[in-house]
Order: sequence, then structure tokens, then C-alpha cells
Amino acid sequence: MLAPPTELFSADFLSDPYPTFAWLRRERPVYRCAAFESYIVTRYDDCASVLTDPDQFGPVPDVTPERPTADHVQYRHILARAFNAEYVARLEPIIQGIVDRLIDEFVDRGEADVMSDFAERLPTLVLAEMLGIPSSAQPMFHAWADSYTRSLAGELSPAQRDDFLRTIRELVGYFAYAIEERRRHPGDDLVTRLMHARAADAQLSGAQILSLCEQFMVAGRDLTTGLIGNGVRALLIHAIQLQRLIAEAWLLEAAIEETLRWDSPVLGQPRTVRTACDMRGERLLAGDIVVVMFAAANRDPLVFSSPDVFDLYRPNAGLHLAFGRGIHFCVGAPLARLEARIALHTLFARLPHLRLSSDRPGERRVAFAMLNLRTYGSLPVEFDTRG
Ligand code: HEM
Repeated sequence: MLAPPTELFSADFLSDPYPTFAWLRRERPVYRCAAFESYIVTRYDDCASVLTDPDQFGPVPDVTPERPTADHVQYRHILARAFNAEYVARLEPIIQGIVDRLIDEFVDRGEADVMSDFAERLPTLVLAEMLGIPSSAQPMFHAWADSYTRSLAGELSPAQRDDFLRTIRELVGYFAYAIEERRRHPGDDLVTRLMHARAADAQLSGAQILSLCEQFMVAGRDLTTGLIGNGVRALLIHAIQLQRLIAEAWLLEAAIEETLRWDSPVLGQPRTVRTACDMRGERLLAGDIVVVMFAAANRDPLVFSSPDVFDLYRPNAGLHLAFGRGIHFCVGAPLARLEARIALHTLFARLPHLRLSSDRPGERRVAFAMLNLRTYGSLPVEFDTRG
């Protein structure tokens, strides 16, 4: 019987899932993974079809218990009013200021870890600004956010889990308090905007705003960290393309789209089958779990020519599914793109001859539990100092 080249979700698979994705796309595009009681979908067209048919493929209730499903479109309209392009554009100088401050801290050292010194810190600081968290509460916020995402990623020992539960209670309590505070004293932050945004006379409930704050904390932090880390590494191992990017700034946006396609920070997301249906000869029953593998779709040769090649000049890189598609398309995509653009531009402009460390290899990190983070745990680099 035909079997994928590496066992799905094994350590070998997670370190480089792409040969297995290629096999699955070719041989078993809708693959029943018995160990995980789910179907793995890997072709671009099939992934796009599942994502854009929410009546047939719904969210997985256990993963997002607070998220409204009944009128998600209206919910998205309200959200889009608060988290719109004009709001994201206003964050640009704030993000630039944070990026410069972070680089100031290591620019004289001649070496740094792109992940811990930079990529992991930037999105948390941006988020704290957006949510109006005062600087006195920010160290606490960092500790909460870190424990929260490590737990979702399945990285906590049993002993650490009690601490985690306490963390969650504190965090939810903090956000509930912050929402109440903004109700009394409106500010210019995202929580206030979410509270006042309206569409067709409807508003977000307090529970929805609370759930959004939690989602922002996970998606807004770790995936943006992943994009920055994956982007820096992709460019550093493609030196000629990096030289072109430094010479032609317009290539920056292309670099971000190609990173999202070639080394997607999110491998996949699950959906639940709502009513029985057939897909590529497999019978899917109501309640079955289908995992849409964005990362596999992003290397489908029927859509992207020479898909395993990182190519800044690829004309259709923007068709990637790294931010999803359809009614759940990533709310934070413009913010993530803006943060990555400023981060990459400033790093390459301020750190002359930036290169991967010659004696310390980077270390891959995959948050397997959610299938939605594949980046680096560390990415040591060296650069020339100006002095
Ligand atoms: C590179 C960074 C990011 C990536 C790769 C990413 C990826 C994704 C993906 C794939 C989805 C769709 C999930 C699905 O279809 O089930 C999603 C949804 C979402 N993302 Fe992002 N995301 C990123 C950054 C952000 C940021 C910065 C925020 C907010 C601060 C954010 C907030 C959200 C929210 C709230 C949703 C849920 C939307 C809905 O259910 O309608 N994301 N993201």
C-alpha cells in the first residue's frame, strides 16, 4: 500500500514537510490520516474550495468556542470597520519606532538572535500599543502572552499547566477590566474602536471583544514573529536575491508574499464537515475533520511554477493561502505585512553585511498542536559594526 515518505506529523515531517506534501498532492490529495482521525487536503484548488464553502465546511467548535459562527459575515463587517486600512496605516510610525529601539539594543554587538532579540519582541510590543496596555503592565503582558502561546503549542510540562490556568484567568480578567475601563474612558486604541464599531446597526458584544483580544494575542504575535523569522532566513540563504532587494526597495513587498508562500508560518487549519460529501473519491461524513494544508497548497505546481524555488520575481506569489481565504481570511493580514515590511527593511538597512552565524545554526520551531506555527526558535546572525 502506498504510504507518504515520512510519517505525518513525525519529527522528520515537521522539519521538512514539503517532500511529503508533494507526494500527498500527487498520490492521495485527500488523505485519511488514521492516527489523527482527519483528512488532509493538499491541492491548491481543493484547499481553496474548502475555505470558500463555509456552509459545507464549518469551523472546529473546540478550537474556537467563543467565535460566533451564525452571522460571521456581519461580524467581519463590524470588525473591518474597527481594524481598517486607515487604522493600520496610523500604526506605521509606532512600529518604526519600536523596530528602531529593538535594533538599537544590539546594533553595537555585531551579533544577535533574530528571534529572541527582535522577531519575538516586535509583535508583542505592537499589540500592547494597539490594545492600550500601559507600559507598567507590559512586562506582565509579555509573561502572560508567552505562557499562553507555549501552552497552545503544547510546550508546557504538566507542572507548568497549573501556572498556565492561573495565567489565563488573570489574562481574561485583565482584558475584561480593560474593556470596562474603555467603556468608561474611551481612548484611541483598538479595544475602544472595537467597542464603537457598527455595521447594519449591530455591535460586537463584550464576549466577542474579549475573544478577539485573545485571538490577537496568539495570531497577532506568533505568526507575525514567524513571518519575520522565515523572511529574514529565506533572504539570507538567497544572497543574490537579497542584493537585488537591497538595491530595489520595491521588491520588499514581493519578498514578503514569496516568504508567505515558500515558508508559510501556518501549515494548516482544520474544518468540520457539515453534511456528507465526496471529495476526490473519498466519502466524507458529517462531523469528519478536514485539515486544509495551506503550506502544501502554496507549493502546488499547477498554480506556482517551480514551486520549491524561492523567487522574488514570481508573478503570482500573492495567490498564496498563508492568510487563509473566504470569510475567515486573516483580519490582521495588513498589519502583519506592514510589520514585516518595516522589520525587514530596517534590519537590512541598519545592519551592514547581515549574515547567518557561521558557528551556530538556527533551530526550527513547530507548534505542532495547532499546526499553525512553523518558524525558528533561534536564528543567530552576525553583522559588521559601524564603529
Ligand atoms: C504572518 C502573520 C499571520 C498569519 C500567517 C496569519 C494567518 C491566519 C490564517 C491562515 C487565518 C485563517 C484561519 C482559518 O481559516 O481558520 C487567520 C485568521 C485570523 N487572524 Fe491571522 N495571521 C497572521 C497575523 C495576524 C495578526 C497580526 C492578527 C491581529 C492582530 C491576526 C488576527 C486574525 C484573526 C482575528 C483571525 C480570525 C478571522 C476569522 O475567523 O474571521 N492575524 N490568520
